[in-house]
Amino acid sequence: MKIPKRLQPLLDEGMIDEVVTQLMSGKEAQVYVVRCGDELRCAKVFKEAKQRSFKQAVEYQEGRKVRNSRRARAMSKKTRYGQREQEDAWLNAEVDALYRLASAGVRVPKPYSFVDGVLLMEMIADEEGYAAPRLDNVTLTEDQARDYHGQVIADVVRMLCAGLVHGDLSEFNVLVDRHGPVIIDLPQAVDAAGNNNAARMLERDVDNMRAYFGRFAPELLDTEYGKEIWALYESGELHPDVKLTGRFEHDTSSVNVDELMAVIDDALEEEADRRERTRDDQEDE
Ligand SMILES: Nc1ncnc2c1ncn2[C@@H]1O[C@H](COP(=O)(O)OP(=O)(O)OP(=O)(O)O)[C@@H](O)[C@H]1O
Ligand SMILES: [Mg+2]
Repeated sequence: MKIPKRLQPLLDEGMIDEVVTQLMSGKEAQVYVVRCGDELRCAKVFKEAKQRSFKQAVEYQEGRKVRNSRRARAMSKKTRYGQREQEDAWLNAEVDALYRLASAGVRVPKPYSFVDGVLLMEMIADEEGYAAPRLDNVTLTEDQARDYHGQVIADVVRMLCAGLVHGDLSEFNVLVDRHGPVIIDLPQAVDAAGNNNAARMLERDVDNMRAYFGRFAPELLDTEYGKEIWALYESGELHPDVKLTGRFEHDTSSVNVDELMAVIDDALEEEADRRERTRDDQEDE
């Protein structure tokens, strides 16, 4: 095929030997199958910032750490340098996330390199060696759905233990190979500890998976893994081998009215004291 301009430098430098074909073009990037020696890999070419859409929204950015403070200051300004730094930070986020998650044992494509806005990674393949289908394109038996759901939930837990929430997890960002689900597409991954939207996003990610697998295994629709996982995370009890139940105790304990009234009375009394003291002070002057 005709060589895409953005891939030419990688060919020139011998990082890839051939561009084989283009996979479906997503909203944020174009993905190509490339040959490196005798291996097929995927090259994800990110679109220019202005062609990209929702994922750069502020809700995802909060809490991202920029190690270099000069850089952090530049990013907060609207200068061209600042914008380029912001762009680089965004693109690096997916590469960082892939390395972090791969070493935390989450099933993600193995990253190889990131050069000139192009991410080279392992191609997830089907039995015939073609790029693997996305979850939304596979029909599952009830048992498979239960099994895959369990695998994705375990990966979500490992991910959170590594400090990250996917933030855009759905049947469109999970591939399926012969071992099961593989999570992809991570440039928007959010920092679990530093982002106030993390709890909501984790729950949304997990609920999306529940809705999808629940089509094949309806009993999953009654589970509440998202809330359960976040509660364990917040109380410091989440670890990769945690046993989950899918149940969540909603806090229904009623307020103790007597105790509450006592607290209010104390506050009123204190306030009255304070006023009296102020009046005394003024009279003394
Ligand atoms: N490592 C991989 N192995 C096989 N196929 C891949 C791989 N990475 C991406 N793909 C294919 O390319 C498509 C687009 O990839 P990805 O979701 O990362 O890009 P995107 O542009 O951010 O997508 P979107 O914004 O539409 O969700 C995927 O749906 C998948 O079919
Ligand atoms: Mg995608």
